[in-house]
Amino acid sequence: MNYDEFIQEQIEELKRTVGDGIAINALSGGVDSSVVTVLAHRALGKNLCSFFVDNALMREGEPERVVATFERMGIPVHRVDARREFLEVLRGLTDPEEKRNAITAAFYRNVFRRLVQETGATFLLHGTILTDIEETVAGIKRQHNILEQIGIDPKKAYGYRVLEPLKTLRKNEVREVARRLGLPDAIAFRMPFPGPALAARIVGEVTEERLATVRAATAIVEEELADSGAFQYMAVLLNDRATGIRQGKREFGQIVVVRCVESTDARTATVSRLAWERLERITARITALPNVNRCLYDLTPKPPATIEYV
Ligand code: XMP
Repeated sequence: MNYDEFIQEQIEELKRTVGDGIAINALSGGVDSSVVTVLAHRALGKNLCSFFVDNALMREGEPERVVATFERMGIPVHRVDARREFLEVLRGLTDPEEKRNAITAAFYRNVFRRLVQETGATFLLHGTILTDIEETVAGIKRQHNILEQIGIDPKKAYGYRVLEPLKTLRKNEVREVARRLGLPDAIAFRMPFPGPALAARIVGEVTEERLATVRAATAIVEEELADSGAFQYMAVLLNDRATGIRQGKREFGQIVVVRCVESTDARTATVSRLAWERLERITARITALPNVNRCLYDLTPKPPATIEYV
């Protein structure tokens, strides 16, 4: 594939399609939406409005970090506070697909529709890639960002058209495009993080309190495994409890799973053989979190497991 040609073609195509209109773009900070943001900024300039939707499900410091990174590149990104809205739609839901559907609806039917109306935009730009489409169509997992391929017409359903400049690319190709666009390595080579964000790492109900626990555990795991070279690592909060002892007293506490996997394209994965000392250090830090008294390391490859828990 000729990457420079691809970049030029996509910029031209965006200019042609959007014309004098306005497009909005939701930037999550992942490599896919970051590449779309830079391509669209080059193609549309002021006719692009980029938003970072703070959905209460992001990692520690993530909203500030993403907005600041793009500001340094001269691309303005507005932070939208939709935390209440997302927590509200997730309240009481425990089924994984119901949670994913609620997040999709909150994004597309509520937040994006509102942003489209406020900005007068007619297009929403999306970082969908080929693998998202393939896995969703194959019925493996409905990725949060797939609409048209499963029969949802966004124009009819939500009032705007969706443009997907990366839909023919795989992840490694998107990373190469990111590099050529001059995106920092922290973005071009960023570890995958799911669209449903920390909601994909909470089995059972997503509440503010449970988010705080998984967010703190995630920060520990990401810090301890940053130099592991693994494909993806994470903390997951289970919906079960176990007996433990804290300060001499019995505690029926929460359980956090640490998962760390090797993969090239996320379609299959094997478990990283982490050093025992590293696992012990992670366990000590995670079980120091309030009301968490067990830490487990997941030894299951994909398949039969998936990488995420939800
Ligand atoms: P699974 O859990 O299906 O995940 O083995 C495969 C890869 O995809 C990521 N993932 C998602 N990414 N939206 C995304 O953008 C989603 O809804 C989603 N679900 C899973 C996951 O982190 C892993 O890298």
